[in-house]
Amino acid sequence: MSLVPMRAILQASLDAYKAGSQFAVGAYNVNNMEQIQGIMMAANQTQSPVIIQASRGALKYADMDYLKHLMQAAVELNPGIPVAMHLDHGNNLDSVKKSISLGFTSVMIDGSLMEDGKTASTYDYNVKVTKEVVEYAHNFGVTVEGELGTLGGIEDGVGSGKIHLTDPDQVVDFVNKTGVDALAIAIGTSHGAYKFKEEPKLAFDIIEKIRKMIPDKFLVSHGSSSVPAELIDMINKYGGNMKKTMGVPVASLQKAIKLGMNKINVDTDGRLAVTAAIRKVFTEAPDKFDPRDYLKPAREALAAIIAQRMNDFGTAGHIKDVKMISLAEMAKFYKK
Ligand code: G3H
Ligand code: 13P
Ligand code: ZN
Repeated sequence: MSLVPMRAILQASLDAYKAGSQFAVGAYNVNNMEQIQGIMMAANQTQSPVIIQASRGALKYADMDYLKHLMQAAVELNPGIPVAMHLDHGNNLDSVKKSISLGFTSVMIDGSLMEDGKTASTYDYNVKVTKEVVEYAHNFGVTVEGELGTLGGIEDGVGSGKIHLTDPDQVVDFVNKTGVDALAIAIGTSHGAYKFKEEPKLAFDIIEKIRKMIPDKFLVSHGSSSVPAELIDMINKYGGNMKKTMGVPVASLQKAIKLGMNKINVDTDGRLAVTAAIRKVFTEAPDKFDPRDYLKPAREALAAIIAQRMNDFGTAGHIKDVKMISLAEMAKFYKK
């Protein structure tokens, strides 16, 4: 069985960092069958462990039970690939409970925002809700990711729209009070396609400081799509209307990985690849009407960009470094 707690996958990244040969694992968002298949195609091709994540919006769009079975099919069909099923931007204990009941092996509780997923919360609120989730999830051996600081950008209602970089002085207290496994930190990245007008300067000093403060916790970077200009150009060439924009350069992500980043969230790059491929078919072959004629190229385009990121983040070839551990074993570990 290749379904593992996210902790097992991220531990391989942290061990590599400590041994001086860093790599990170991408967490890729899914909403449908083709996205899940595309990601697994990329993981197979590059022999990478993978985190498949679903937002609350995805669970609503696809219907939770469909996503559960699609993700489980991915796991069954790929016994050699370690996979974690992760809830992205959980907003309260209820969303966490639902995901765990569906078989997710990891959850994020985004207590940096209130339940509406938009309003910035207080530190005390964040500690309270995150602690509550850790106490619940660890009973099931499920990994928990929390967040300190807020990102820029808003995707379907997720995000305050304002960047508040993580305050390193809060980190040790937050981790000790909550018991989270992984911490998403705000270093200047942003959700969505319209992140920056010019090349961003990320707060690498914050990563360095925090990495030293919590050497055994996993660090997470959200809003990390690179928004390739070629994909924006391709979308516009085939009838789209996207404005000029910039994402997080791959080189900046690689620098973050060198400094100890373990999990990198990518959604937008996949969305762009899928849209560009579908627009191409619609423009070049307007007579086509069988969904397979455009969903197959879309799935292949997604697989290509994800395989690229698996190489960029150094995840490729690291399957063997993941210890295959069950949720039950993990639950025992947390009890100790
Ligand atoms: O961080 C947010 C992810 O990109 C998910 O976006 O809420 O539109 O599914 P979504
Ligand atoms: P992007 O919008 O940069 O792909 O970020 C995705 C993300 O952070 C999901 O949680
Ligand atoms: Zn995010």
